Amino acid sequence: MNQEVIIVRGNHTLKGDVRVSGAKNSALKLMAASILGQGETILHNVPLISDIELMSEVLARLGATVVREGHTLRINTADVDSCETPYELVSKMRASISVLGPLIGRFGEARVAMPGGCQIGARKIDMHLVGLEALGVAFDVDHGVLAATTPNGLRGTHVYLEFPSVGATENMLMAAVTAEGHTAIENAACEPEIEDLANMLNAMGARVSGAGTSLIEIEGVPLSTLHPCEHTTVGDRIEAGTFLVGGALSGGPLTVHGIDPAFLRMAIMKLRAMGCDVETGDDWITVRREGPLSSVDIQTLPHPGFPTDLQAQFMLLAALADDVSVITENVFENRFMFAAELMRMGADVTLDDHHAIVRGVDHLEGAPVSSTDLRAGAALVLAGIVADGETSVHHLEHIDRGYEDYVGKLASLGADIRRVSADSLR
Ligand code: UD1
Repeated sequence: MNQEVIIVRGNHTLKGDVRVSGAKNSALKLMAASILGQGETILHNVPLISDIELMSEVLARLGATVVREGHTLRINTADVDSCETPYELVSKMRASISVLGPLIGRFGEARVAMPGGCQIGARKIDMHLVGLEALGVAFDVDHGVLAATTPNGLRGTHVYLEFPSVGATENMLMAAVTAEGHTAIENAACEPEIEDLANMLNAMGARVSGAGTSLIEIEGVPLSTLHPCEHTTVGDRIEAGTFLVGGALSGGPLTVHGIDPAFLRMAIMKLRAMGCDVETGDDWITVRREGPLSSVDIQTLPHPGFPTDLQAQFMLLAALADDVSVITENVFENRFMFAAELMRMGADVTLDDHHAIVRGVDHLEGAPVSSTDLRAGAALVLAGIVADGETSVHHLEHIDRGYEDYVGKLASLGADIRRVSADSLR
């Protein structure tokens, strides 16, 4: 357990330039996909975050060697000889289940511990199973372990997903690349990270088209024709969106680099609706604001809708806006725990099922607060930067899962921020 705390002094402006790291949600799946390559895959722009360390451990347990050289990972999966991912790893990181599809693709079988619930909802895996079953996978649950076999091999299929689940789309895609014949995934998730995964699979010899749209088509190829490749992870749109919120809160101007603005179209629309001036280039976005923040309604939806992973950060903006905003969470149940922490800093939020009614206040007050999840933790730090007085943010293990050097990047943008041992506060 990380025993450190972030201390932020308020009433500061974030301005200047910051470069985002590679996308966590892409890199994790690219690492899983390397299982299909059977040799040394080289991944660039991999963020230095704890979820990547955990996925390295998952791959190492399967028999791979993973070597990090800065932001590059060399993953050799030639000697992978185990198909089992234990509960102790899956329970720490739900994304561990993304090895299911590639293990089935390579070995025709897999044993992956069933993930439990997590703090942002039940997060079932029924759609992963429906998609894989359609490809010919048989499942059995054996003492909490999901045992997958393919009695008649993998064969192409046509599936219409009930909801465009990111994880289900990815697992199905990674299994389908070696299925015999043609697979179509309708109502597929359209997230840019899925397109990144498909690009890597194609560089490995797979034949995937349509990724990034709601219809993904895959022509199966023999496993023996897949080979390792070298690939660069796309920029992290959620990290970029988080820094843009920081700039919008305090006025900026703040520019994020290393991100395709097309990934953030809905968030940019909302920033403009809230009174921010947003400029974009090939791989950068600048935000600045001179007038007051206007209230705005937001509902989270699968991409290209407004991302649930930016909901907490925008709730913070709404908390300081001039009127009432209604935020509706449609992707995860139970993702409003952040509101209670923000209210401890003076925000006025009323929760009603999956709606949050946010009445803007003219300032927030620094307070001791706890990260309830990754994005909430990042937003609480931003809240501390603009609040009156001092804020201490606890439970940094959440922030460390997905933000590389968050404190260093914010300090370079002008925050008065430091990371100290919790013991030094006693
Ligand atoms: C991924 C992202 C996460 C992001 C989410 C939605 C990673 C590692 N994580 O999570 O940051 O917030 O997409 O953009 O990439 N569901 C089911 N059954 C299933 C699968 C999902 O009911 O079989 C439900 C989930 O409980 C949730 C919703 O569908 O309510 C969305 O889940 P999904 O899109 O699968 O998200 P993840 O892949 O878990």
